[in-house]
Amino acid sequence: MRHHVRIAPSILAADFANLRFEVDRITSAVEMLHVDVMDGHFVPNISLGPPVIASLRAATDLYLDCHLMITDPLSYLESLAASGANGVTVHIEAVPDPHPVMDESARLGLDVGLVINPPTPIESVEPYLDRCSMVVVMSVNPGFGGQAFIEAVMPKITRLREIIDSEALSTDIQIDGGINRRTAVLAGAAGADVIVAGTSVFHAADPLAAIDEIKRAANGEVT
Ligand code: DX5
Ligand code: ZN
Repeated sequence: MRHHVRIAPSILAADFANLRFEVDRITSAVEMLHVDVMDGHFVPNISLGPPVIASLRAATDLYLDCHLMITDPLSYLESLAASGANGVTVHIEAVPDPHPVMDESARLGLDVGLVINPPTPIESVEPYLDRCSMVVVMSVNPGFGGQAFIEAVMPKITRLREIIDSEALSTDIQIDGGINRRTAVLAGAAGADVIVAGTSVFHAADPLAAIDEIKRAANGEVT
């Protein structure tokens, strides 16, 4: 049976001076916002952190899915939780032993997931899948929006789908980077549950229509 693929718009591509407007205009079409947190160390870019998440929290009831592209996620979990984050995802490349992050997230009531960069194999996160609300496969090298989709990561989605289904885990598979209505077809067919889309949503003339197109593409409803 085909599962239902959801879209998580990435506000990295939104106009940061008009965040409330940007969020409001897509709210009716999604359940989740993808919030890219960067520290200028784990990735060569700086984006936003707890103060902006707190402002978003005051502006929306959407689930805030915070993608932590930071070297030391453990030190920031408390402040992220206090800001109103719902879930965090941390890079296994930054935290080779994720147990402390998982324990602290649980203590703070945050959902937690693990992210793998394009060169990182799924074996690095496989032992922890049963503790992850989400496993994120990067389909670009993290740090910037608007990059080209790396199709070579797709077998990782296929394999994760097999493992998660065969073990009857509730872990969602998220794919992040370079998703548009063309690449969404591939991601959905391979078994992704949540698709992150930044540029293709917020730079579109009509973001709601763009979300609808990507959603239908990911769910195999267009050819
Ligand atoms: C990249 C971020 C992505 C990014 C995706 O470091 O993790 O979430 O916003 O942007 P697009 O959809 O433009 O590739
Ligand atoms: Zn992201």
